[in-house]
Amino acid sequence: MKAIIPVAGVGTRLRPHTFSHPKVLLNVAGKPIIGHIMDKLIEAGVDEAIVIVGYLGNMVEEWLRKHYSIKLTFVDQPERLGLGHAIWMCKSYVPENEPLFIILGDTIFDVDLDAVLKSPFSSLGVKEVADPRRFGVAVTGGGKILKLVEKPDTPVSNLAIVGLYFLKQAGQLFSCIDYLIENRILTKGEYQLTDALQLMIENGEKFTTFPVQGWYDCGKPETLLSTNEILLKDHKTEKEYHGCIINNPVFIAENAILENTIVGPNTTIGENSVISNSIVRDSIIGNDARVTHIMLEHSIVGNNTTITGNPHEINIGDFSEIRVG
Ligand code: G1P
Repeated sequence: MKAIIPVAGVGTRLRPHTFSHPKVLLNVAGKPIIGHIMDKLIEAGVDEAIVIVGYLGNMVEEWLRKHYSIKLTFVDQPERLGLGHAIWMCKSYVPENEPLFIILGDTIFDVDLDAVLKSPFSSLGVKEVADPRRFGVAVTGGGKILKLVEKPDTPVSNLAIVGLYFLKQAGQLFSCIDYLIENRILTKGEYQLTDALQLMIENGEKFTTFPVQGWYDCGKPETLLSTNEILLKDHKTEKEYHGCIINNPVFIAENAILENTIVGPNTTIGENSVISNSIVRDSIIGNDARVTHIMLEHSIVGNNTTITGNPHEINIGDFSEIRVG
């Protein structure tokens, strides 16, 4: 089955890290966000990914081609006309009568995808949220979706569409997006995927929902860190490092070097990084970082970064150098 993964977003709330890296390549619990998504898709039998790229898209392409051998197709999204439009650009890559899975590339999910992809009906991942205003929502009844509304101004449902869409027949979706574009039907200034799905419902397509309990946001520094903590939960390192104390759960890259250091809990240490005479907890340290004589907590440290001294909480991007006495 083919999966479309839109990952064109700029990730403004994760600056400075997203100045030099696309958001989906940020490391959480030992691998980039998109790595977590790809592994789940492949495990569930997806054999082709169509990735919609934009900002720093060449980096996404390079990383995916290096790490995955399934068929990968990259579609560039030059203008941002909405999620519906982005999906529509993939039309020529998906046969009309095939099923299709769409997964938004900025969130990590914990869901039994295998069961979802075998569903007898088109189905959308949903979760009840306290404030649904920033989501598309589903109104359900009689075991199916009655109506979908994109970011309703007046509340109609608390069941948010989380960004996992299974469609029995791709062709119907593309015809509905064609209709939106031909008739210039925009909601909040964009061609919405939710509007196209609503048209499918109006045309008689039955949609069910599946619950998504584990829905881990990676959009802000604090949520990236809490997602890191959740995903590391059962991760243990047995390896011993001379003069170091490891408080699991942690992820430490195989070739990272640790000296006289206390690491963890809830900490990711990237490849080729050297941590010495430091205490690092509840943090993500990127690749090729040098961290010495410091106590770090709730911190995100980019790649190729050197930190020496004693700040307590830090959020710095790639290629930085900080020395505080
Ligand atoms: C998009 C969809 C929305 C969905 C949300 C999930 O909105 O349009 O229906 O609920 O993703 O994150 P965006 O977050 O791109 O504004």
